Amino acid sequence: MRLIAHRGASGHAPENTEAAFNLALEMGAKAVELDVHRTKDGELVVIHDEDLKRTGRRKGAIAKLTFKELLTADVGSWFSPKFKDQGIPTLEEVLDLCEGRAEVHVEIKQGSRLYPGIEETVVAMIRRREALRWTVVSSFDHGALYVVRAIDNKVRLGYLLGWTRLPVAYEEMRDLKAESLNLSARQVNARIVKECHARGHKVLVYTVNTQKEADRMAKLGVDGIFCNFPELKVA
Ligand code: G3P
Ligand code: MG
Repeated sequence: MRLIAHRGASGHAPENTEAAFNLALEMGAKAVELDVHRTKDGELVVIHDEDLKRTGRRKGAIAKLTFKELLTADVGSWFSPKFKDQGIPTLEEVLDLCEGRAEVHVEIKQGSRLYPGIEETVVAMIRRREALRWTVVSSFDHGALYVVRAIDNKVRLGYLLGWTRLPVAYEEMRDLKAESLNLSARQVNARIVKECHARGHKVLVYTVNTQKEADRMAKLGVDGIFCNFPELKVA
């Protein structure tokens, strides 16, 4: 079972920051997950929420701010004053950090409905960097996954289940040639794992943060867990 550092080592450092990704890599994580939004002027940035309220402790939707305006955001202090120097990284910067060291799961938070053309921008970056082998694009926005697949047949895709019914998900995952079904620890069960494996998909589960829960996932035959604590032991 693979451990994917969820938003970096986000149990020890502020999520989706350079500090969190560096720490995950130092702790030996072989895969990381991050969330992507897009600024008003088209920069892909790594942050979970669509605004600054929770992690930046100020108002502002990412889609309405320019990259320059975002540069002053402090997304570390909410976690601990010792991370007050942490800003919002660009996707490019996190890929630079991880290249040659870890697989990167790029979660597109919203597709073209909020960010017209974001799928093309993400795929273009992956192609330009020749990162097809070590990146996986995932989304709860299945329309966005369809757009990505239409652009490129080789991009690795993770299908985040959300509220979609399983029969629909299985059909869409087949159409999309999705590599994995990504679902929550509350949703997963042995039947789903068996069905996914029979259909040739991996099962990745979020967010698994205790050793007990990680052991339960290993027993279920899950292929990977998104985890805030890279020190957990995975069998
Ligand atoms: O990709 C797994 C997980 O990150 C999905 O949920 O809200 O943590 O982005 P969330
Ligand atoms: Mg995520």
